[in-house]
Amino acid sequence: MDLKELLNKEGDYTRDEIISLLNSEDIDSLIEKANEIRDFYFGETVHLRGIVEFSNYCSENCIYCSYREDNLIIPRYRMSADEIINAAKTIYDNGIHTVVLQSGSDNYYDTDLISYLIYYIKREFDVAVTLSIGERSFEEYKAWKIAGADRYIMKHESANPKTYSIYHRKNQLFERINHLKYLKHIGYQVGSGNIIGLPLQTIEDIADDILLCRELDVDMAAFTPFIPAPNTPYQNMQKVPDEFVMKVIAVVRIVLKNIYISSSSIFERNNIKSREKGLLAGANVILPDFTPSPYRDYFKHYINSGGLIEDPLSSHKIIKDRIEALGKTIASTKGHSIKTQSNR
Ligand code: 5AD
Repeated sequence: MDLKELLNKEGDYTRDEIISLLNSEDIDSLIEKANEIRDFYFGETVHLRGIVEFSNYCSENCIYCSYREDNLIIPRYRMSADEIINAAKTIYDNGIHTVVLQSGSDNYYDTDLISYLIYYIKREFDVAVTLSIGERSFEEYKAWKIAGADRYIMKHESANPKTYSIYHRKNQLFERINHLKYLKHIGYQVGSGNIIGLPLQTIEDIADDILLCRELDVDMAAFTPFIPAPNTPYQNMQKVPDEFVMKVIAVVRIVLKNIYISSSSIFERNNIKSREKGLLAGANVILPDFTPSPYRDYFKHYINSGGLIEDPLSSHKIIKDRIEALGKTIASTKGHSIKTQSNR
């Protein structure tokens, strides 16, 4: 099948077909198709999700991540409940209807503290709450659903069990998949995804990452570029070219169709140019960072984040202006999953 036939194919793509899409050099055709599909399901609107990175303590040791436990160089911080709630208020006051609470794997925030945050934020502000706080117990997922959480984001990072175990020495892929399935089962809208361009990753692996997202029936996906983060074993590895990231995002849209796809990672922060590229390739979600000072400044010490803007509000305004400059509008709804309720 040539690319044109492949792009117009009805029904689900096979693994080999996804590999062909990923190997295609005709990026423009892929992007054109991805935009057509995105616009069909979501129109030209972009959804903003305000993110609060409330703790960078982490008990995991992911080989690529600056937060890894073994990294003794970075300064660590934890925000208080009041500080987190204030950040959520700022998000809501800026017309954003999703609050994403994100942290490293940090059990300092126990079941009750997270429940309190969710309950309080949902009661005070008309927002959806998304958790992105790593693997926790099944009882906790349940408690937080009852407290009012709407969504859970947990990237599977790599759908290849061998490399998964290399990247995350403490953990195994099947455990993560079980957690994601359970979250979906008890009614969360679920987000997963990979890191594009990790050392050892093949095109086949990326096809499997997309297929795993399809199998999990995710509502949201984040396929974001590998950044060789300082003070990690991968600090001297190769960066991934933007064009390749755009190609992967386009293929994710073409294969998975009616899901929210974000154009960001914590490491892009305010690197607005890459975020725009993601939107142009088929993504429809941006996560402006509302972590307040002084905590947001901690990133400066160890991430080469060109153009980090100090004030969350000015960076939010810039993101807004840039989205509008692309001829797109910002959605005013909470942006819940558009998959049918029975699929959730
Ligand atoms: N490059 C790209 N993404 C990274 N993450 C962690 N470290 C890196 C890195 N070096 C991503 C992981 C995690 C998310 C919060 O940040 O995918 O899920």
